[in-house]
Amino acid sequence: MSSNPLEIDFAGITFKNPFILSSAPPTMDPRHILRAARLGWGGAVMKTITHEPTVDPRTRLGALRREGNTIGMNNIELLSRKPLKTWTNEWIPEIKREAPEDFIFIASMMSGPEPEGWTELAETMSRTGADAIELNVSCPHGSPEKHMGAFIGQDPGLVEQVTRAAKKGTDLPILVKLTPNVTDIVPIAKAAVKGGADALSAINTVESLIGIDIETATPMPIAYGVDKKEQLSTYGGFCGPAVKPIGLRFVSQIAKAIPDIPISGIGGIGDWTSAIEYLMVGARTIQICTAVMWHGYSIIKDLTAGLIEFMNRKRYTTLESMIGKALPKITTWTALSKLPPVVARVIEDRCTGCKDCVIACADGGYVAIQMKEKIAAINQEKCDGCGLCYVVCRDNAIEFVHTN
Ligand SMILES: Cc1cc2nc3c(=O)[nH]c(=O)nc-3n(C[C@H](O)[C@H](O)[C@H](O)COP(=O)(O)O)c2cc1C
Repeated sequence: MSSNPLEIDFAGITFKNPFILSSAPPTMDPRHILRAARLGWGGAVMKTITHEPTVDPRTRLGALRREGNTIGMNNIELLSRKPLKTWTNEWIPEIKREAPEDFIFIASMMSGPEPEGWTELAETMSRTGADAIELNVSCPHGSPEKHMGAFIGQDPGLVEQVTRAAKKGTDLPILVKLTPNVTDIVPIAKAAVKGGADALSAINTVESLIGIDIETATPMPIAYGVDKKEQLSTYGGFCGPAVKPIGLRFVSQIAKAIPDIPISGIGGIGDWTSAIEYLMVGARTIQICTAVMWHGYSIIKDLTAGLIEFMNRKRYTTLESMIGKALPKITTWTALSKLPPVVARVIEDRCTGCKDCVIACADGGYVAIQMKEKIAAINQEKCDGCGLCYVVCRDNAIEFVHTN
């Protein structure tokens, strides 16, 4: 057994740690990828390429803010701006030559619904020295208009077909990156596996309209029409902290339905705690985009240190022993006991007396909280145990207790 507790096997590849840069601006060229590699990232998925380079609109990123914090981002960016040849002839060889030997490089590619394009790209990619290939059938904007990206990823028949076609062109492990913009991800995931996928990545971004500039009635991010004068926008892909619940849902659903398929968890992961959440619902590796775009590659130090400290504290000797640990506890609503004797209690030394829980409970709850000597006090007779006070409390001053 390896002495490195973070080492993990993923689709036959050994990663020194589970942290991978997902396909996005932080993996746009060797200059970016090599900086991350030298800081200790386990691997990177290059910015997706297709047969033609992309020219993007400006601006192309939008923000969702709440009380001064940015909690989500959307983008209308497409694929790599560099031609395929630059990647295959210059950049991937450079990355493989210059990066630490144990850094895993994953090529990312996209083609249309015709299988031949996928076989051809996979053949080309497998001659570059890449360690694996991720199929992007999940970009929710721009690509679907061209019958690519999520257009393919929303159709199980096409997903199976293009996965099989890519497999035909390569012996490298194939990851299929799935879109959350579907009603049920399980049939799509099963189609990818039927087509020969060695692993799945989930999720790509969530299709969204991030907001409207109400002064000018213009949707955001504000770009320009083809006349370069009229301000316009389009639907984009939403990511960052706000999508974590969606990613956790999809990863857990895939892991429950197809227990043997390795999953690379993606979506709103920004710290070691959210990484552990993904591992516990069945992810074997972790991909990150937004947190790196906002805070830089050096977050890898906190990610690995935090994960190791947690493992030591909880006596997990391997990542393997943590993977899927929460899955048996995800059940149906029907299987939950109704009205167990649980009520809220205020942790008094944390309460700052802001009254947020009093207001929320009065108008959205069971009128069970009053102020008592500048501290919130819960009437346990009236408390219904719904959890609203916990939701609005900014001081982490609510806990739940059994009444018998
Ligand atoms: C600006 C931007 C560009 C992206 N480009 C790609 C891409 O080329 N290929 C791809 O598979 N995913 C792309 N993504 C999606 C990310 O890889 C990732 O799946 C998504 O952002 C969710 O992860 P996060 O919450 O950590 O950002 C992009 C995301 C952003 C924000």
